[in-house]
Amino acid sequence: MFLSDHLTVNSQGHLAVGSHDAVDLAHQYGTPLYVLNEDYMRERCREYKEQMAHFYPGESLPLFASKALCTMHTARIVSEEGLGADVVSGGEIYTLKKAGFPMKKVFFHGNNKTPEEIALALESGVGYIVIDHVSELYRVDQIAAEKGMVQKVLFRIKPGIDCHAHEYVKTGQIDCKFGLALETGEAENILRISASLQHVRAEGIHCHIGSQIFETEPFCEAARRMLGLMSKVRDVLSLHILNLGGGFGIRYGVHDDPPPLREYLSRLADTIKQTCSELNLPLPMLLLEPGRAIVGEAGITLYTVGVVKKIPGIRTYVSVDGGMGDNPRYILYGAKHPAVLANRAAEKPVGPVTIAGKCCESGDLIAEYVPMPEVREGDILAVLCTGAYNYSMASNYNRLPRPAMIALRGDQSFTVIRRETWEDLTAMDIL
Ligand code: LLP
Repeated sequence: MFLSDHLTVNSQGHLAVGSHDAVDLAHQYGTPLYVLNEDYMRERCREYKEQMAHFYPGESLPLFASKALCTMHTARIVSEEGLGADVVSGGEIYTLKKAGFPMKKVFFHGNNKTPEEIALALESGVGYIVIDHVSELYRVDQIAAEKGMVQKVLFRIKPGIDCHAHEYVKTGQIDCKFGLALETGEAENILRISASLQHVRAEGIHCHIGSQIFETEPFCEAARRMLGLMSKVRDVLSLHILNLGGGFGIRYGVHDDPPPLREYLSRLADTIKQTCSELNLPLPMLLLEPGRAIVGEAGITLYTVGVVKKIPGIRTYVSVDGGMGDNPRYILYGAKHPAVLANRAAEKPVGPVTIAGKCCESGDLIAEYVPMPEVREGDILAVLCTGAYNYSMASNYNRLPRPAMIALRGDQSFTVIRRETWEDLTAMDIL
């Protein structure tokens, strides 16, 4: 009923997540509360794995983009489902390693990896480092030499594609802090340099054109350009991995209409097959890095309504016990998350409300002009599609403790991140 099929209204008129009553969860665990439907997340992992294998005749593997939601619990889920992972920091490497993730299936990205992070990656047995600049290539070669190792690497390429995504999450065009430009020859040069180094082994190339993309053609065009590059350097390197990144769009509201995964994959697979045959290249191993598409819709956030402020002729502000600290996506990107009154989910809307957080900042909003029934203090409000880039981008602004996260598995619910305490907030302060 509410966008995703795991969200329904139960016989009490409450929002239900799978078989769980959202209002009961709010009362049992307290609010604000991140709720992750683990079953739904696992289904998305399986869907990626199975459909990639179905549509693409070569070897393939989805990598979960950890930045969307990096916890020990999600790392275990991803590992149990047999996916690999993309990481972008020492902290993400550390989390996955601690969760027992198979580090050989980890790809380490980033435009400014520190020497400490590179050393941690090598010591942790990270499968691949995705090189972002020539200075980093030399650094990895040198650190690997000091450790007597040969590190497998991919190269992050900007294929020169401008897709329809928010300015802050567009990454495929030349004016971007990530990657090596195709147009200028920078990408080809670094690949040729890598062929002469002793302690790195170039295995493939990577690109990520942006996030929340609803078109299939930019991915296909990226694939054509990337295969063109593989073909150009085949005299010195036989690259066998093509990683096309993440960015597959999801539904944040009725206005969003992303193509089904099979459509992205069938078109992409056809493009790769055709281009490889034109260029006389063997089919590469295909990697994709979905983050939002795996976990976005699997999460909701529950809040308790506090003050309801009606400004006659202007609007009604409904303030909740969280806000930009646990969900900064509205203030950062103007992102529209759907919201539902969880304890009266079947009631008809009487008018639009603006959902405000409790931070000392007037831009601290979660959503504006959302149709709602009459909202009262003590109501439980659910904000939907918060599984990706909410907890992972949360802050302690205004010294607000970050919420707990619970996971739902079948008819069980359990805490996977405990709620922060005020003591936690001062734990790093030195008097
Ligand atoms: N791979 C790379 C190299 C990436 O940079 C990203 C996202 C992904 C994969 C996963 O993209 P996804 O499938 O989740 O779209 N904080 C923003 C999103 C930033 C995405 C950054 N990179 C948001 O809340 O919308």
